[in-house]
Amino acid sequence: MITLKNISKTFRLKNNSLKALDDVSLEIERGDIVGVIGFSGAGKSTLIRTVNLLEKPDTGQVILNGKDLTRLGSKELAQERKKIGMIFQHFNLLSSRTVFDNVALPLELDHVGKQEIARKVNELLKIVGLAEKALDYPKNLSGGQKQRVAIARALANDPYLLLCDEATSALDPATTQSILELLQDINTRLGITILLITHEMDVIKAICNHVAVIDKGKLIAKGTLKDIISDKVHPIIKQFTTTRKMRIPQSLSHILQQDPGEGLFPLIEVEMKGEMALDSLLSTISTKLGTPYKVLTADIEYVDTANFGKLLLHLQGTAEENATVLAYLNIINIQNTVKGYA
Ligand SMILES: Nc1ncnc2c1ncn2[C@@H]1O[C@H](COP(=O)(O)OP(=O)(O)O)[C@@H](O)[C@H]1O
Ligand SMILES: [Mg+2]
Repeated sequence: MITLKNISKTFRLKNNSLKALDDVSLEIERGDIVGVIGFSGAGKSTLIRTVNLLEKPDTGQVILNGKDLTRLGSKELAQERKKIGMIFQHFNLLSSRTVFDNVALPLELDHVGKQEIARKVNELLKIVGLAEKALDYPKNLSGGQKQRVAIARALANDPYLLLCDEATSALDPATTQSILELLQDINTRLGITILLITHEMDVIKAICNHVAVIDKGKLIAKGTLKDIISDKVHPIIKQFTTTRKMRIPQSLSHILQQDPGEGLFPLIEVEMKGEMALDSLLSTISTKLGTPYKVLTADIEYVDTANFGKLLLHLQGTAEENATVLAYLNIINIQNTVKGYA
């Protein structure tokens, strides 16, 4: 439905030039929520701006619903752009206009009648949960409310595609969550395809079903969220997906200091990377290997049915039983991530 084909873009500066996008190809299916993640300066904004041709690529095609936007004249392009909404990190609202008038702006520009504008704007404000704020000015709104106004404005022309450029990066975690829920709701209820770019893996995990990773202007990986999180190849992806280091609970540090002898009471950190289900791992240790253990802490999350994250286990068997567990973890190939703390 949306195809970016071999897009390249170089910014020419006074003394040198900078390749912001290098042969980028990406396909987005209707109804998807696709996230592009990358560090600052990776080319994310440039990429998302090529989709509605705010940034004109040097080479490559932008094909939306079968039309190559790079070949359209300015009138036709303006027509196509109306069906693509966009929101930004800093909301870009007009401070001199009320909430109502901000949302109404695209409709006014489109010469829609007053009554129809009122109907549409009120409906949109309801969708974003701001019906009561219609007559307020942006300066009296919180960041989350401002982004809701921007979302309502982006929906005014009934787009089929919504582009989100770091839409939650200026918001606190709770507000981020509520905006992401709103985007998900818009995707399901209104069937609007969403392309978002972000530098935060949590945003991707919260709502995206497909992900691409961009680094120095190149897409270095594409796939489902599960594919990307379980990627073990790219160091860049690892940086985005590494979970935090487990802390050993205070109450256990005395056990560690006792040093009961080699192989006894080892604490081990097991990293779950999607291949094995947590419950089957635990039942193997207790039932098949017959080794008693305690789960001390776990930071596990699920993508579909696959689990990712870390688990701190306290093995409580004999030295031999504990050694069997360590050997088993080696065999199922998570040996690199097992550390003896004791
Ligand atoms: N209009 C521009 N002129 C010159 N360089 C630019 C311009 N826009 C972006 N760049 C450069 O292109 C690279 C990618 O920028 P951008 O797409 O904004 O990255 P991101 O959104 O991932 O932080 C950066 O090095 C940036 O400085
Ligand atoms: Mg950017």
